[in-house]
Amino acid sequence: MASVIIAGVGAYAPERILTNDDLAKMVDTSDEWIRTRSGIRERHIAAPDQACSDLALIAAQRALADAKVSASEVDLLIIATATPDYPLPSTACVVQHKLGVPPHATAFDIAAACSGFVYALEIAYGQLLTGRYKCALIIGSEKLSSITDWSDRTTCVLFGDGAGAAVLKKSDQDGIGIIGSDLGADGELAEYLYTPAGGSRCPASPKTVEEKGHFLRMKGKEIFKNAVRVMETVAREMVEQHHLSLDQINLVIPHQANVRIVEALAGNLGLPMDRFYVNIDRYGNTSSASIPLALDEARKAGKIKPGDYTLLVAFGAGFTYGSTLIRW
Ligand code: UT7
Repeated sequence: MASVIIAGVGAYAPERILTNDDLAKMVDTSDEWIRTRSGIRERHIAAPDQACSDLALIAAQRALADAKVSASEVDLLIIATATPDYPLPSTACVVQHKLGVPPHATAFDIAAACSGFVYALEIAYGQLLTGRYKCALIIGSEKLSSITDWSDRTTCVLFGDGAGAAVLKKSDQDGIGIIGSDLGADGELAEYLYTPAGGSRCPASPKTVEEKGHFLRMKGKEIFKNAVRVMETVAREMVEQHHLSLDQINLVIPHQANVRIVEALAGNLGLPMDRFYVNIDRYGNTSSASIPLALDEARKAGKIKPGDYTLLVAFGAGFTYGSTLIRW
């Protein structure tokens, strides 16, 4: 039986770092509040002339180099983002051209917010297995600073910019690569995290700008509870489906939204915190980029070895969620 492997990973975070103390000069907050309530110390912020595709491009180049694959070999390009360069065309088309992926490739964006990377993994995994495609490049890239209300202390302290990418290929070796993938969505919770204006329901106008309708609105407490609940469920279901025990998972890479969410998840699953990769302290919540940014760091830090099981678990606006089980 053929499998689909992650042949390479790459990530990029913009140069500029915004610390909690910097934020305390902008809104009524403190380093102490942000650290203790979220685990965040600092986040990266893209330059004004950097858009989603610029961050994606660097992460993609790094992933291709890691996989020793050239852009000309890519025939499927998927970008998961909530902050595309334009409402249309897709950011995937912009990156296809900038990266030199041939025009015969399929290129499109997906909207699954913070679960976007695991959604893209599932799509690429399925498409590669059909034999229709040979080499997929998937990217999570976000310039969340462009949809953040920098006068709202309840949201602006949480988010950051960044990008992460992975190259996926089919392999003849059985039992490695993506072992399982499962996704879900509960649209009843859609307004827990959303940008009210700028879409077809409420097109951009002077009034929407005045009302700050183009920025993120969030019900933090409700998201917190649902995040812990769905991540526990998908993690348990994934290991059970594959006849494993949670104890056999060498590393869990959760969406990085709040370290307290990860701690609650670890407690509910009965796993020690050192089994979870956490880098939210240095990046904040980078939405679809958070899991590939963490995956890239974890691999570079030697935390993933051949034969290891890694479980990715995500949740995000929508309310979307999902998990991917990988064996290296
Ligand atoms: O990718 C998905 C994205 N979103 C999430 O994952 C969000 C999930 N939720 C969370 O991470 C947490 O709910 C937050 C970090 C957003 C908030 O933490 P919390 O422990 O739920 O705090 P809270 O909302 O209950 O606020 C506690 C207090 C409030 O004051 P009062 O009403 O008790 O007087 C807030 O006004 O903290 C206040 N507060 C702040 N104080 C200082 C809220 N934001 C800030 C701030 N600095 N930045």
